[in-house]
Amino acid sequence: MVSLERKKEICWEVNRYKALGITKSCLNNSYIIKDKEKIIFDPIAVKDEKADYIVITNFLELEHIKLSKENKYIVTKFGKEVIENFGEYDYLVIGYGDEFNIGETNLKFYCTDFYITSYWLEKDILLSGELFSQYEVIGSSDTKEDFRKLMEELKEHYANILLPHREDILKLLEDFKNLEIKKILPSHGVCWEKYIENVFFEYKFWSLGNYRERAVIVFISLYQATELIAKALKEGLEEEVEVRVHRLNFSKVTEVMRDLLDAKYLLVGSPTINNDIHPKVKFFLDYMKKLNPSSNKIAVPFGSYGFESAHYRLIDLLSELEFKVVYDDILFTKFIPDKSRLEKIKEFAKKLLTLDP
Ligand SMILES: Cc1cc2nc3c(=O)[nH]c(=O)nc-3n(C[C@H](O)[C@H](O)[C@H](O)COP(=O)(O)O)c2cc1C
Repeated sequence: MVSLERKKEICWEVNRYKALGITKSCLNNSYIIKDKEKIIFDPIAVKDEKADYIVITNFLELEHIKLSKENKYIVTKFGKEVIENFGEYDYLVIGYGDEFNIGETNLKFYCTDFYITSYWLEKDILLSGELFSQYEVIGSSDTKEDFRKLMEELKEHYANILLPHREDILKLLEDFKNLEIKKILPSHGVCWEKYIENVFFEYKFWSLGNYRERAVIVFISLYQATELIAKALKEGLEEEVEVRVHRLNFSKVTEVMRDLLDAKYLLVGSPTINNDIHPKVKFFLDYMKKLNPSSNKIAVPFGSYGFESAHYRLIDLLSELEFKVVYDDILFTKFIPDKSRLEKIKEFAKKLLTLDP
């Protein structure tokens, strides 16, 4: 008798987010197939469970790795380095497309350097590990959850965790096209059954760096000068495109990344503080840079200064990301901008709508 069991556990604070000062919870999943031999996919939600094989699906986060001398681990080439670093453990290195048998159950591994996804041939199930995971949603299956909320969470996870691996993901998606997939069982969040097509569509869209007619305005402001510019830009843009606004003293950078993922425009505003841009804006730009977003965007710097503007710093940082940087002197105002200047800024925003990245 072959059986599949799902073990769930709520993690109230995801460590990656905690390290950024952001509280985020998630549902951790482990999956256990019992056949002639027993195999566990991701030990994240099981403690001290013995098995013939344990698939370590993720080597970037230590909570996925619960090592014991009694188990045999299935790892990628990169995982081998990590496991050896922890000491002497029994492991098996698998490669892309390798098949594995534990009785009546046949599995095929589709792995990248960091992640393992496993396809269960007899049941048409993809045990996807970190892929197709979502944080925050404390649900069980996509049949019971709100579609929009689920997709926002899927997107946030992709934008903050998987984005640097988008080339690898595109390759995996090509291979998944040839598989019959009835269910996706990820390491975090709900299992996919109803929205599999939507999930594949969005993953491909994001991995290709495609964009929608959407703008993200990110800024910080002490005395409202930069804020007034942000508002004028928003007014100019929102006649044609959806605009999401994030003030960096309230919004989480992870949410900004989520909205930015498939946006066409990124507008970044900062006051000049101590001959530089504001440290929170710098942090956001650095965080974004490390995630390596697609360059397929129009970026607009703006802000306010008192006596000597440091906005060339903003221009340089956005250019480093290889975005198409578009700006005008009108966007950098000495102290508070007046009404006529704000009107001109609004007109500038409208003109942006005619440009392509
Ligand atoms: C702590 C602090 C440091 C500042 N440093 C500079 C500076 O180095 N150069 C400059 O031109 N203005 C400087 N300013 C002035 C601000 O850039 C100016 O007031 C601007 O209009 C603030 O925009 P905001 O209201 O959007 O924050 C500084 C202001 C503060 C509060």
